[in-house]
Formats: sequence, structure tokens, C-alpha cells
Amino acid sequence: MKLRFLAAAAALTATVLAGPVAAEPIIIKFSHVVTENTPKGKGANLFKQLVEERLAGKVEVQVFPSAQLFGDADEIIALLKNDTQIIAPALSKFSKFTKVLQLYDLPFLFNDLNAVACFQDSASGKEMLDSMSSKGIKGLAYWHNGMKQLSAPVPLRTPEAAAGLKFRIMSSDVLQAQFQAVKANPQKLAFSEVYLALQTGQIDGQENTWSNIYSQKFFEVQPHFVESNHGLLDYMLVTSERFWKSLPDDIRSELDKIVMEVTATVNDLASKENEDAKQLIVDSGKTEIIQLTAEEKGKWRAAMKPVWEQFKGDIGANYVAAAAACSQ
Ligand code: SIN
Repeated sequence: MKLRFLAAAAALTATVLAGPVAAEPIIIKFSHVVTENTPKGKGANLFKQLVEERLAGKVEVQVFPSAQLFGDADEIIALLKNDTQIIAPALSKFSKFTKVLQLYDLPFLFNDLNAVACFQDSASGKEMLDSMSSKGIKGLAYWHNGMKQLSAPVPLRTPEAAAGLKFRIMSSDVLQAQFQAVKANPQKLAFSEVYLALQTGQIDGQENTWSNIYSQKFFEVQPHFVESNHGLLDYMLVTSERFWKSLPDDIRSELDKIVMEVTATVNDLASKENEDAKQLIVDSGKTEIIQLTAEEKGKWRAAMKPVWEQFKGDIGANYVAAAAACSQ
């Protein structure tokens, strides 16, 4: 008994002499589905770097690229269960949680990323960051990827060429309607499954940005691309309301500053990343990239644009008009 008391006293003395025990750092898991050499992949790594420089010992960021931790089907649920703390899904993947973000999938709504930034920086664009707060999802920022391009086993110069082909789409009813409008057959499929589905002929074609097409090697299994710029692929960087509120005020405000800084960098580099990826695809000599004439592009626009009417009610006509004004 006396021995046990002496041992406990010695342990207590040792703890007191060693000083207060350092608090464990807060862990932020950042899960995403793309590779590290893409706009989102680079953004996630820069976020980790800045957090670990400025909040050393207080916050640790663990980045999981290429759907290593969670894929399209489960990343938002994982966020709400606090199994990951930050994700940045394509805006097309939030439709179970809000209808307003369907805006960003409307074909031929934005001419380019400048028009996208014009809308996202407006009061309406910023308002949409809060569109899922009642579901526990907090929008932190928009991150650009870029404009989408089409590919198939045949040259898609006009919408008629797409009729009857199976196209992979993200889980979006707008994208489904967009391909139905040209009599094609859209198939919702997780990003990580697209390459194999193209290779095995489960699907015929796809739409994505040059940086995703290059990093996923879709150009190796698709003989014809058209630079259609018909739609947008952008992201919302999100966390859960519960996790963000649980952070100490000083840490949350430093993270807010870092998010703003990383957002500016990602949104500056996205266009160049896509141009560079396109050039690498050209240099590979493995596929053809077709430039559409104004007349051909006009035909695609005329075929797909009626989709706006179908979704205007759910999205809000005011948002559609405000976004369209950015491309005038
Ligand atoms: C992504 O860029 O996060 C993936 C987009 C897609 O599913 O096509």
C-alpha cells in the first residue's frame, strides 16, 4: 500500500515538473476525388501547407486525393458524420441538398470563367453559399475548375452526332436533361469509374474539363474531342456547420483567412491549368481536338438551351437572369 502511494506520488511529481501536457492538434481531413495535379488537388495541398505554417501544432490537415477516403457517392454524408471535415464536390453533386445550385449546370449559361466569377462575386452568387445551411452544410468558397468539353467515338460537330450515344454524367438532373435534349442517353456514374467505363464501352462518351480529361487519361480512350465549352465544372468548398462552429474563434478566423487566400490562388491558376492540360493532350497525338465553327456551336446551343425553361422554377428565375447577364 505504502509502495503504491509512493509510486503515485512520484508520477504526480514527474508530471508537474514536465509542465502542462500539450493539447492535441485539431485534425482536418480534406477528402477529394481528383488527382493532385488539378486545380482542386493543388488547392487542397496549398490549404494544408498554409494551415500547417500558420497554425502549427494547433491544426493538422490530412489530404486524401483520388477518392482514397471517400468517393462521389459518400463524401457529403461522410462530411455530415464528421468522418471528413472539408470536401469540395463539383456543384453538380449537391442536388439532393439544394435545387438552386442546379443553376451552374445549365448549358451555355456562362461564356467563360470571367462570367462565372462575375456571378459568384455578386450578392446572388454569395447567397448561394448558404443554400445548404439548413441541411448542416456550410459553403466556404467557390473554386474554379473550368469549362467542359465533349468527347465520343465519333466527331461531335453537331448535336445530331450525339443521338443514341451513352454519355457519362455527374449526378445531376440538369445534365441528364441536357443530353436527353440531343437524344443521347445520359448515365450517372462516379468520377472514379469513368475511365474503365469508357475503355470497356459501358459508356460511349463524356463531358469534362481539360485538366480532368488529362489527369484521368480519358484522352487515351476517346478518339474525338470537341472544344464545346458548353457547360461549367466548378466546386463548392464545404465543411459542416457543426464542425466549423465547434472550432475556437481564433482558429476559425485564421482558417477563414487561409480559405480566402487559397481560393484566390486556385481561381487564378485554373484557366492556365486547363490550357496546359489541353496542350499536353494535343502533344500526346492520341486524339483529335475539333474546333467548332460559330454555326456548329450555334446548333449545340439551340439544341441544349431549352433545358433552362425546365429548371428555371426550381432554381429561381432571378438567379438565372443574374447569371445570364454576366455573359452579355
Ligand atoms: C471533380 O472534378 O471533382 C470530378 C468531376 C466529375 O465527377 O466529373
